[in-house]
Amino acid sequence: MSLCCPVGFQYGQSPGSFGISRDGSVGDWKPDEPNQKEWPGQSEGDIIRGDIRLDGVNFSYPSNPSHQVLRGVSLHCRSGQTTALVGLSGSGKSTLINLVLRFYDVQEGMGSITFDGSDIRSLNPSWLRRQLGIVGQEPRLFRGTIAENIAWGLPAATQEQVEAAAKAALADEFISQLPEGYNTVVSDTKLLSGGQRQRIAIARALIRDPSVLILDEPTSALDPESSMLISRALEQARWSDRLGHQRTVIVIAHRLSTVEHADKIAVMEAGRVVEEGGHNELMALNGCYARLLTDQRLPTNHTPRI
Ligand SMILES: Nc1ncnc2c1ncn2[C@@H]1O[C@H](COP(=O)(O)OP(=O)(O)OP(=O)(O)O)[C@@H](O)[C@H]1O
Ligand SMILES: [Mg+2]
Repeated sequence: MSLCCPVGFQYGQSPGSFGISRDGSVGDWKPDEPNQKEWPGQSEGDIIRGDIRLDGVNFSYPSNPSHQVLRGVSLHCRSGQTTALVGLSGSGKSTLINLVLRFYDVQEGMGSITFDGSDIRSLNPSWLRRQLGIVGQEPRLFRGTIAENIAWGLPAATQEQVEAAAKAALADEFISQLPEGYNTVVSDTKLLSGGQRQRIAIARALIRDPSVLILDEPTSALDPESSMLISRALEQARWSDRLGHQRTVIVIAHRLSTVEHADKIAVMEAGRVVEEGGHNELMALNGCYARLLTDQRLPTNHTPRI
């Protein structure tokens, strides 16, 4: 028996594939259009605080029902806090994110996921996704101007909003130095470095000032300056002007600097959360997390090295 049913396209289908929109266009995931008719429980103006709980979640993908990918996962991502997910490849990090984004539903009796205490299955997926900002591991830009790329998640965005988002993502400086500035036409070519594309993707996520930000850090090698700028951009990205406090952040982390700043680190192993706590606490435990670091599965300096 399958433990789930698919709700839409998913996160992490293939490396860097995050955000394939339904019409097949590239770019980070774009929120669905409003569709309130079938979901009278939420009105467009409702916002979530971003308190996310997984409780005893078991999950298998429909294409491979005999392989249980998540095994009794319980995790509390508190409102306003940053939770870092770490673990070896295949441990279930992206799958957990797929479920939080409601790309798949957990079946009845197989655990639950709640947002601010409401079961995720009672929430309109389109409405929910509009509250979330998402940055994929290797964000792709579509052919268009940088401004259009940043405004992707907020079609009615003004130039002022685009620039504010770029500033928040530490992208304004390099964009302004391009001959055409925000009107520079980009595609997935060599015009921008991986680090610059990542910061444009962060700006794209921040333009909607989301209650929850979900990030998959790049694993590819970035030069130390790019790496440092992304770390600083992620630090800044925690603050929400609209909420007046820190937003909830869930990050699949590959850098020590990211996990050190997280309020909580959840270590995943073979579909389970096997350790939870702060960096110092988990180091003192000398268990899976400490082993990830000693085996250099996470970088021991501040540059990505997976
Ligand atoms: N769409 C899918 N259909 C079937 N199985 C899948 C699918 N996506 C992932 N899996 C399987 O689920 C398990 C967990 O994969 P997942 O992508 O969640 O791991 P991960 O921790 O994100 O790994 P990585 O660090 O490599 O991104 C793996 O065994 C993977 O093969
Ligand atoms: Mg993954």
